[in-house]
Amino acid sequence: MRSRPGASIMLCYGTRPQIIKASVVRRALGRTFKVLAVDSGQHYDYELNGLLYRQLDVPPPDHYLEVGSGSHAEQTAAVLLRTERLIAEARPAAMVVIGDTNSTLGAALAAAKCRVPVVHVEAGLRATDALMAEELNRRIVDACARLLCTPCASATARVRREHPDGVVVETGDVARDVLLTALPRVPAACEFPGGSYIFATLHRAELTDDVPLLEAVLATLADLTMPVVLAVHPRTAACMGGIDRILSFGGGLQVRWAVGYLESLALIQRASAVVTDSGGVQREAYWLGVPCLTLRRETEWLETVEAGANQVVPPVAQDQLAGAVREAVDRPRTWDRDAYGSGHAGERVAEAVAGLLRW
Ligand code: UD1
Repeated sequence: MRSRPGASIMLCYGTRPQIIKASVVRRALGRTFKVLAVDSGQHYDYELNGLLYRQLDVPPPDHYLEVGSGSHAEQTAAVLLRTERLIAEARPAAMVVIGDTNSTLGAALAAAKCRVPVVHVEAGLRATDALMAEELNRRIVDACARLLCTPCASATARVRREHPDGVVVETGDVARDVLLTALPRVPAACEFPGGSYIFATLHRAELTDDVPLLEAVLATLADLTMPVVLAVHPRTAACMGGIDRILSFGGGLQVRWAVGYLESLALIQRASAVVTDSGGVQREAYWLGVPCLTLRRETEWLETVEAGANQVVPPVAQDQLAGAVREAVDRPRTWDRDAYGSGHAGERVAEAVAGLLRW
């Protein structure tokens, strides 16, 4: 590593998917720069934070902001204030943020206001619902980013159109790097249900905040002819008043608390199909050749649908779900898996940052 005053890069993240993706970005940046890793603490449960550091062999962050739960304004404001202080002390050469969370927004705004160039990893994704919390975050972060690192061609075209002054680099998706690195360590002896099963994850606010809808989805999953392994996100458990309420659905529902990243990959890899509202799980199913049903009104990861790997089923369409699962299980698994790069996105992000800073 070459050392140059002021050439540290601040990397801010704070939720489960960001801790996973930051593992690769931090390692790649660390080959050239001094990296100051900042974990906002937006996700603080062991399964959504500490376990991932351990499984992905990531050193603890340099700064832990302890932002925790709160309203969107509380979380964003806490990250904004606390990263602003860190920026004033460390004077980083750039701020790297990932995805679309309140932590992404707070850190990007703090940096932009201090005139520290913002690097947005996973730039250019869009949903049509402009007021969805994550959508609002990603549009604002793209708008204040100096360097936009995109995961795929459609995102590249979009940010080139929307932000002609930004530096746009199509790096590919860092989540693929993490997956390829982790695959050899996917636990062979992870506890699996005997025989075929569907793997399910549900956590997004659009579903969990509508408890009657969430209950209807759980009832449908419990009634499927194939067993369903459901990894329960703490938010989903909280919205249902505790995991016992989810356990009470019985039927074919096999309820587990949120699993580690390696177990999540293992459960996806061996599933007959996946039912999810997670962005990460949709792509992992696509890369691992497992048919996916996305329980949302839309997906940002359109290439997975175009490839024939993924089908969007709105959660209100309960009657379609059982039929869609049957079709998904029989779907040929022959799709092309390269829409989001080849697994070298972390290096490309680091090269793009070096290029931006003329390092
Ligand atoms: C979404 C949001 C993101 C937000 C997050 C909150 C989008 C595009 N992104 O990300 O901004 O921070 O929700 O959670 O809307 N996994 C486990 N254990 C499990 C289940 C999943 O390790 O029990 C792993 C998956 O293998 C995957 C990652 O977690 O790698 C996905 O994280 P998830 O919480 O589902 O977030 P996203 O939907 O990707």
